[in-house]
Amino acid sequence: MIEIPHIVAHRGASIEAPENTIAAFRVAGARQAKWIECDVTLSADNQCVLIHDDTLERTTNGTGPIHMQPLSVLRELDAGSWFSDIYKGERIPTLSDTLETLFFMDMGANLEIKPSGCDPVRLCQEVAKELGRAKKLPILLSSFDDNAVAEIRRLLPDMPCGWLLETLPVNWHEEYTKLGASALHIDHKALDPGKAAEIVAANVPLVCYTVNDPDRARELFGWGVTSVITDDPAKMIAAIPRH
Ligand code: G3P
Ligand code: CA
Repeated sequence: MIEIPHIVAHRGASIEAPENTIAAFRVAGARQAKWIECDVTLSADNQCVLIHDDTLERTTNGTGPIHMQPLSVLRELDAGSWFSDIYKGERIPTLSDTLETLFFMDMGANLEIKPSGCDPVRLCQEVAKELGRAKKLPILLSSFDDNAVAEIRRLLPDMPCGWLLETLPVNWHEEYTKLGASALHIDHKALDPGKAAEIVAANVPLVCYTVNDPDRARELFGWGVTSVITDDPAKMIAAIPRH
């Protein structure tokens, strides 16, 4: 298992720059974040692109489902103005652009596989192809979609893949083992000291999202959490340079 840094920038430094854009990843690097988290899905022509929502409205000047538009259309959209005029003209990045940028910034990534209406298996296949072509950098995949976690295990058996959860099922360890996951990524609000102790005792790396309060992050680290994913890496790194 690769070493996951204690602080990961959620969708880049998304408190300071438009989420899931190259600008947000650059800001995260400038704030000394070692890794970013980002959301990967497919365009209509099966290109891997970064965007969180199923539809374009919230973070671009486009409309409708992402998976209905080809890359040529998605690339023309403005993915920055919704956040601030300073970022007008920022584009939806491809996974390939992102990996290239991170490589040159000496950063790693938690790539969340987000099917958002596309076929999860096809998405995993395209991500695996991109990763095969890209220069090597530290990567941890993750998904809420069990089929995607299973497919990643099949396609990329040597690449770590986290299982994303909103709440912890009673039989989590059985499911986790069945999926062959390599970390548990859970909403920090679903965690308590007892559950954290159970996960840590099972030697499972524990990643919590989305933690923006340094006091809460300190508490989680005290429970044995490996990493927190935060919108505000600058604040978190200043408050908790190491743990
Ligand atoms: O990967 C952790 C977190 O990003 C999952 O939730 O909705 O922000 O993609 P969401
Ligand atoms: Ca995400």
